[in-house]
Amino acid sequence: MTAKASFDFTGANVLVIGASRAGIGAAIARAFQNAGAAVEITGVEPECIEEDAARFDYTQLDVTDTNEVYDFASTRDHIDVLVNCAAVTQRGKEMAPEFFSHVLDVNLTGSFRCAEALHPALSGAKGRVINVASMYARFGSPRNPAYGASKAGVEQLTKSLAIAWAKDGIRVNAIAPGFVVTEQSARAREDSIFTTAIEDRTPLARWGHPEDIAGTALFLASDAAAFVTGACVIVDGGYSVV
Ligand SMILES: NC(=O)c1ccc[n+]([C@@H]2O[C@H](COP(=O)([O-])OP(=O)(O)OC[C@H]3O[C@@H](n4cnc5c(N)ncnc54)[C@H](O)[C@@H]3O)[C@@H](O)[C@H]2O)c1
Repeated sequence: MTAKASFDFTGANVLVIGASRAGIGAAIARAFQNAGAAVEITGVEPECIEEDAARFDYTQLDVTDTNEVYDFASTRDHIDVLVNCAAVTQRGKEMAPEFFSHVLDVNLTGSFRCAEALHPALSGAKGRVINVASMYARFGSPRNPAYGASKAGVEQLTKSLAIAWAKDGIRVNAIAPGFVVTEQSARAREDSIFTTAIEDRTPLARWGHPEDIAGTALFLASDAAAFVTGACVIVDGGYSVV
């Protein structure tokens, strides 16, 4: 038996939640579009970045608003690939209980809300869900405790949904990126000691770029990953094996 390793997504409907900036979501959306898929994206901002406005249908969607998410989902009946990328974090602010709850609401409950609201559209397509976790699902983070807890929750949620929805033909996986140059990491990257420490520890000796994450998303959505569900794939330049 030969493995199917086609990354041609012609005819597939792909939805990337949280792709409005020049980050990981946008890189994943572009990779799926380059591979032939019809791709739509969302974000919390009124508009996405200019260079993607012409490429994608964009919807402003707050993943903490249950009615908004279900209204959005009710107008979609066939989703082949759902990528949950929306997240917030703010170094040093996450010991405040209200902000802690907000981070959990966006990153963890938001991923669940979108997946559950789109469950019928995913079932019809025997679709794939790709959640975006983080190395902080496994490492402690003294200045981002909510973010770490939310991402550990995302990794765990991925396993539970993989089991719950296997009967519908839906595969659910996660990607745990390492340190990636995006707007979300901009504040942390102002700290040059931190930035250098990451580079020094990472065997591939650099921060990741959003495009470094996209190939794994294509793989997980493809038939090459037909027997992969409930997994969390680490894409971190080797940071976590040191
Ligand atoms: N940058 C990194 O180093 C890194 C590392 C590991 C994991 N990640 C994860 O990758 C994913 C993408 O991160 P990024 O670095 O590209 O970030 P980004 O800041 O570029 O994008 C975050 C996205 O989340 C959306 N968002 C924020 N709040 C929202 C809300 N309430 N409702 C809907 N959407 C909302 C924004 O609109 C934006 O599109 C996130 O899940 C993040 O946690 C990033």
